[in-house]
Amino acid sequence: MSAPESVKLEEPMFVADPLDVGEPRVHAAWLPPEAFRSLGARRVLVHGDGPLVDTVLDEVARACARYGGRMWHSPSWDVDVDLVLTLRGAGELPSSTAQGARAAGEAALTEDGRTLGDEGFLLARAGDVTVVLADAPAGLLYGLFHVVRLCAAAFDPARPPELHRPALRRRMLNHWDNVAVHPVMGQVERGYAGGSIFWRDGLPCGDLSRIRSYGRLLAASGVNAISVNNVNVGRTEARLLTDRIGDVAEIADVLRPYGIRVHLSVTFAAPVVLGGLTTADPADEAVRAWWADTTRGVYERIPDFGGYLVKADSEGQPGPFTYGRDHADGANLLAEALAPHGGVVHWRAFVYNHHQDWRDRSTDRARAAYDHFTPLDGRFRTNVVVQVKFGPVDFQVREPVSPVLAAMPATRLAVEVQVTQEYTGQQRHVCHLGPWWSEVLRFAPWGPDGRTIADIAIGEAGEGGGLVAVANTGDDPFWTGHPLAQANLYTFGRLAWDPRLDPRAVLDEWITLTFPPSATADPEPVRRTLHEIMDGSWRTYERYTAPLGVGFMVHPGDHYGPDVDGYEYSRWGTYHFADRDGVGVDRSRATGTGFAGQYPPYWADVYESPERCPDELLLFFHHVPYGHVLHNGSTVIQHIYDTHFAGVEEVEAMRRRWQTLNGMIDPAVYVRVAERLDEQVRSATEWRDQINTYFLRKSGVPDARGRRIY
Ligand code: GCU
Repeated sequence: MSAPESVKLEEPMFVADPLDVGEPRVHAAWLPPEAFRSLGARRVLVHGDGPLVDTVLDEVARACARYGGRMWHSPSWDVDVDLVLTLRGAGELPSSTAQGARAAGEAALTEDGRTLGDEGFLLARAGDVTVVLADAPAGLLYGLFHVVRLCAAAFDPARPPELHRPALRRRMLNHWDNVAVHPVMGQVERGYAGGSIFWRDGLPCGDLSRIRSYGRLLAASGVNAISVNNVNVGRTEARLLTDRIGDVAEIADVLRPYGIRVHLSVTFAAPVVLGGLTTADPADEAVRAWWADTTRGVYERIPDFGGYLVKADSEGQPGPFTYGRDHADGANLLAEALAPHGGVVHWRAFVYNHHQDWRDRSTDRARAAYDHFTPLDGRFRTNVVVQVKFGPVDFQVREPVSPVLAAMPATRLAVEVQVTQEYTGQQRHVCHLGPWWSEVLRFAPWGPDGRTIADIAIGEAGEGGGLVAVANTGDDPFWTGHPLAQANLYTFGRLAWDPRLDPRAVLDEWITLTFPPSATADPEPVRRTLHEIMDGSWRTYERYTAPLGVGFMVHPGDHYGPDVDGYEYSRWGTYHFADRDGVGVDRSRATGTGFAGQYPPYWADVYESPERCPDELLLFFHHVPYGHVLHNGSTVIQHIYDTHFAGVEEVEAMRRRWQTLNGMIDPAVYVRVAERLDEQVRSATEWRDQINTYFLRKSGVPDARGRRIY
């Protein structure tokens, strides 16, 4: 379709730099200038002071300069305004209209009975004025971005007051960025968006304006913490803790105005590799003193430093097991050093034997985190957050929710998801993960109507460990390689702010911000087409890859593309056990590894039974014959064929739909996505043909519909 005459592409989504500093051409993602039109055309009063208020002032000033509005900062004379952004503690407002609006906001707040906290805000209308009230500057910044998100709706006279507070205190991104390029993993481990925005070839990458733009995007999505180096800590990375802490401080300085605290991945062996000690044993006095001293040094440079992130005794990283200690001993050692400064240790529960013998069917990687960690419940210091991957294995497109999350009531737990699409198409495939995370967060481990995973991450009295994601960003001009993968990052932040949000509505927000209707000739087809492509894309990806929750079947090492037996005889503990009769892993209590028994009774019973187990997880929990009939009435083998044919058809339809947007959106975005969709069609076809052929050859059962299998 060619571009209609009226198409308004003069407002580029691809701006020199969202902050108008520096030269690099960087995609504006969900904060293009156009998204600020509604705000920028109005008369805005900002009241209050502080570094984050300066960020608000800067945003409003630039928007008003662009779109003809006006801004005042705590003026001493009366002004007529459309929008007031005020800190409640900042004293009397000068303007009478603003004062009236504020009084209305205060009244709404009293009626609501809740407090705003240090990140919350209230938005209310009074007469012709919209008011945003916050108790702390971060709340004001979040309130500002809420106004941006609402566009004209923020000024709708009929809008009832709304109070927003983040459900989760910790909304954290983990960057798996290496400082020095790793010989196998490169600059960013599992990164699919170019290099790192923090590091290049052993040094800081030096582009602070890019980091600032990043902080701004993250703040607008709700993220408030970030770790800046890989959990696999090499020699160069280890030094960020000591002689290279200045490099981290520089990042912290840039992100602070966006309410984002910086964390660091550290090696458990730091006292040995950096401190010259002979041991890193948590029980050793010199080791404890080293961590205390070193941590003091960190806080001297970064007073609001967030804390440490640790991958210990996992995939070759050092840990307390070396000294005959357990993970509580290890985590508490670092927690003790951080406690006087208010810092937190994120200690990962991703601990398993990665030297398994494939012949040994009694060892089950899925069991490992539970077996290692649940006996330690209650022993972790209060400033330890045990960070648990959402599933028991490794970020697969489908896994049951990790039973660890329901088994450590006396520990602060964080849920870890993977925004970087290691196992979900590596940002070459459209795979919108919001619906998947939402399903995980709404899962009720004790059975329907019980507490959910989101409740656990929120914690009693809001003291839970929060939601953490492995970042998908890099120095790619689109930030995420695939422009539509930006939506995953945005959605992560929004779900961390409020896990009850409907992922479809969040996607809609992202579409409105990223493809602003006012800059699009015909916004409705754009919106509809993006929904059609993205809403169901996770399930589409699931259809053409490993079936029914069995997982993996990816090419070893890079994890891209199909290789059904690639990990079948390896040491990594990820097997499917397909033979001529059937497929799947028996994790039942009765005859299998017993993993199903790690769940509270409701789900333990459901998962135990091949008849009751949900179809999509059947092969995760059971080894069944190919003729086993699913709840959907199909046999396992026919389901494999059908879903793989359907998956490819869906990807072909995505590509056709995308082509209808040619000329309607930013050409650079159009072309990049079009290229990636070509690759997705190619790759999905390869998945379909390899999986179908493999199972046809193993089972000898033909496709009931006689389609072509090789
Ligand atoms: C996956 C991934 C690794 C990563 C690990 C982790 O296994 O492939 O690259 O290091 O997860 O979560 O630590």
